[in-house]
Amino acid sequence: MPEPVDIPFTPDLHLRLLLSLDRGQNVQRAVTEAVRPGMRVLDAGTGSGLLSFIALAAGAATVVGVDRHHVDLARSIAEHNGLGDRLSFIEADLADLELSSFDPPKGFDLLLAFIHTNNPLIDEGRSRLVFELRDRLCADGATVVPGAVRYRATGCDRRDWDLHTELTDLDETTGVLRGAYGLDFQPVTDAVRQGLALRRMRPVDAVAHTWRSPTTMAAIRFPRTDVRLLTGAHDFATFDYGAPAFTGFPPQVRLRATVAGRLTGVIWTQELLHAGVPLWTTESYSPLAAPIAVTAGDELTLATGDEWRATNILRTRPSGEAGEDHSHPM
Ligand SMILES: C[S@@+](CC[C@H](N)C(=O)[O-])C[C@H]1O[C@@H](n2cnc3c(N)ncnc32)[C@H](O)[C@@H]1O
Repeated sequence: MPEPVDIPFTPDLHLRLLLSLDRGQNVQRAVTEAVRPGMRVLDAGTGSGLLSFIALAAGAATVVGVDRHHVDLARSIAEHNGLGDRLSFIEADLADLELSSFDPPKGFDLLLAFIHTNNPLIDEGRSRLVFELRDRLCADGATVVPGAVRYRATGCDRRDWDLHTELTDLDETTGVLRGAYGLDFQPVTDAVRQGLALRRMRPVDAVAHTWRSPTTMAAIRFPRTDVRLLTGAHDFATFDYGAPAFTGFPPQVRLRATVAGRLTGVIWTQELLHAGVPLWTTESYSPLAAPIAVTAGDELTLATGDEWRATNILRTRPSGEAGEDHSHPM
């Protein structure tokens, strides 16, 4: 089964994150506000180590940075800057960590958890992991930064990419290949088809090289020349890391058209919040299986269950269920 495309957290990307001064300043403010003198801090997904260094400067007693990749990078930066004391790095998958992995095995007072990827299909699991880390590794009443992740949904007409057009072009390839090679290459076409919508979720290529500072990462959005918004932004889910337990995404999202148009899919807005203020806002996109004509005032309900999680494709909820769908398939 194809999976949602994770972001390759290479040194290149960490450099781009550091150069994103807007995001850097937001997280610097949030971490500095959250640290109290003497705190034991866990920096989950430390990357370049930036948040660990900020926590240390803000007065943390000890900081442990954990990442499954490139921990040598954070270590070298720490050594380079004479920050060895009170700071350590562990290369591990966060999911595998127990309190006994740490010395001393004592609960953390502050959990820094910037492990989200601008993809709701991956980040639902990342939020579940943040709850698990909080409950497994932190002291009672520990603070988590970001404090919450909020998702909103906006119906739109996306013009720079269309699922149906790409599928139609893909269908053509089998005939072209048969003509050229006398062989049936349908399996490769099918494999490409399966992951199609999953690969078209993000507005920008995460590995695009942009070195001139400042790059903007605190607000990654689709260019408005490529999308026409047809509904307001509807609340979909908020994962509040102060809540007693993790609840996943709801099984459906409800939208109300504010203008007439051809609704091709949904833009998800993901906000990492600290004290209610967005630190990092990103958009991603899920296409409808088939576009729908809407007029102002139309209401529709889209299923956000297993099919959406597996394919990134949305369908209107079958008729007969509560919440009438007044839209018209095109
Ligand atoms: C968005 S980057 C954040 C880097 C840094 N904390 C910052 O804010 O600049 C997310 C980091 O989390 C790491 N990460 C994600 N999931 C992880 C896991 N399950 N175990 C360990 N590291 C993980 C990635 O390798 C990546 O370096």
